[in-house]
Amino acid sequence: MTEVNIAGTLLKLLQGDIVEQEVEAIVNAANTGLWGGSGVDGAIHRAGGPAIAAECRRIREEQGGCPVGQAVITSGGFLKARYVIHTVGPIWHGGRKGEDELLASAYRSSLQLAKERGIKSLAFPSISTGAYRFPVGRAARIALATVKDFLAANPGIFTEVRFVLFSQEILNTYTRVLEEGF
Ligand code: APR
Repeated sequence: MTEVNIAGTLLKLLQGDIVEQEVEAIVNAANTGLWGGSGVDGAIHRAGGPAIAAECRRIREEQGGCPVGQAVITSGGFLKARYVIHTVGPIWHGGRKGEDELLASAYRSSLQLAKERGIKSLAFPSISTGAYRFPVGRAARIALATVKDFLAANPGIFTEVRFVLFSQEILNTYTRVLEEGF
C-alpha cells in the first residue's frame, strides 16, 4: 500500500478487488450502453445484484447511457459501497484519437459527480487498461495527474481516494509513476 496526502485528501494505491472496498462510492469501468460486461463491470454487477442493472437500464432509457469520458451514478445494491459511479474510458486506438483527454475526462467526471453528491471516499479501478487496452503506464500518469489536480483545486474535498489495482504488476506501475512524480 502506498499513500500520500494531497491538499488534505489521502490518496491510496493498493492491490485488491474493487467490490470489496469499504468506501462510499466505487467507480465502474463501464461501456456507453451501461450494459454490464466482464472485468470490473462484471464483478460489480455480480456482487451488487440486479438493482444496479435496473438503474442502469433506466438511465439508458432516459438519457441513452453514458458517453465516453462522462459519468453517471447508481446505488451500490448489495455492495459495501453506497454508490457506484459508472464512467466510460476510451478504447485505445494508438493514442492519436484523443484517448488521453477522454481518459482524464472519465476520472474528472467521476470526481466531480462525487463532489456534487457530497461523497467523501471513493475507489477507482485502473480505467481502460483491461478490455480497452490502454497502455498501463500512460494511463497511470493520466489518472494520477488528473486526480492530483482535482484534489489540489478542492482542498479537503474527500477524506480518501483509492486506486484499487488488480495485480501486483499494475500496482507497481502506479506506484512507480507516483514516486517519479507526474
Ligand atoms: N477489481 C479491480 N480491478 C479489476 C477487477 C476488479 N474486480 N477486475 C478487473 N480489474 C482491472 C483490470 O485488470 C484492468 O486493469 O481493471 C482494469 C480495467 O479493466 P476492465 O474491467 O476490462 O475495464 P476497461 O479496460 O475500462 O474496459 C471496459 O470492458 O467489462 C467491459 O463492460 C465493460 O465494455 C466495458 C469494457
